[in-house]
Amino acid sequence: MIDKINDLIDRVKAFQPKAAQEIEDFRIRMMGKKGELNAIFEEFKTVAPELKRELGQRINELKTLTAERINELRDRFAEQESADGPAIDMTRPGSADDLGSRHPISLVRNEIVEIFSRMGYTVADGPEIEDDWHVFSALNFPPEHPARDMQDTFFIEKNPDILLRTHTSSIQVRTMEHQKPPIRVICPGRVFRNEAISARAHCIFHQVEGLYVDENVSFADLKQSILYFAKEMFGESSTIRLRPSYFPFTEPSAEVDVSCNLCGGKGCNVCKHTGWLEIMGCGMVDPAVLEASGIDPAKYSGFAFGMGIERIAMLKFGVRDLRLYFENDVRFLHQFDSVIG
Ligand code: PHE
Repeated sequence: MIDKINDLIDRVKAFQPKAAQEIEDFRIRMMGKKGELNAIFEEFKTVAPELKRELGQRINELKTLTAERINELRDRFAEQESADGPAIDMTRPGSADDLGSRHPISLVRNEIVEIFSRMGYTVADGPEIEDDWHVFSALNFPPEHPARDMQDTFFIEKNPDILLRTHTSSIQVRTMEHQKPPIRVICPGRVFRNEAISARAHCIFHQVEGLYVDENVSFADLKQSILYFAKEMFGESSTIRLRPSYFPFTEPSAEVDVSCNLCGGKGCNVCKHTGWLEIMGCGMVDPAVLEASGIDPAKYSGFAFGMGIERIAMLKFGVRDLRLYFENDVRFLHQFDSVIG
């Protein structure tokens, strides 16, 4: 029996686990119910009384040694693990970053800006919180005139009126106030109108408006510029038509329709079977507007146009509901990942 105990003592001393789990297995094998130690204790009951003293001491040594060794090994492994941090598999492939992409409104705005910059336009910017003069009065909307009802306005302060701009025409006024003709600017930006939100209307949307003022600018120049834009934006085969309309700041004024690029003008659901899609308003700048900004209408003439970016993007990408632009649902946004802009 003494040999067996000595052998176990040697095994305990020599035990070198490679993983924490091996320590637990070893503990069960040695100290578990059916382990080596219990077997020794059982055998001990049967030894001759004169041997008990020496054997008993040796068994106790084995027991203490085993318990100490297990504790020591456990501590060592715990220390190592906290020094290394949790086990990391360095060979695993990294998780790819989810790259964002441009919002469809930005894509279309950039494209509009790009097309007009090829015609020599530069981008002008202005404040979203405006005064009455730059949004209405300088643009030939007299106070109390019913034309103001065309753009239901969010007012911030009354007398004097401070409001959220309802169109980016305010930037055109600011440009004319600070720049002498020739002027060729486009004004992209966010605008605000007090509209109930639906699939076709929103209280916040985006516009690009343009202004061209120089000597001898004619309606033919306006029409040709818009035609060029429509072909660049919607395809070479696109045509336009102008319908007479009314804006206080232009005379004459027109709405521009582009031929429906889905049915090629034959008529479909999107163009409501007319073959035409409305894309913008335009007209020759009213002489009163030039005069209000300090430009001599006897010497200069100009044209202006304005379009909603959401609307152009809807036609270009086939988006049916305006609200999708504002919800930031990545399932919608990721569909534009491959569009370069
Ligand atoms: N400012 C007009 C609007 O927001 C658009 C427009 C601009 C119309 C320039 C004609 C000329 O409704």
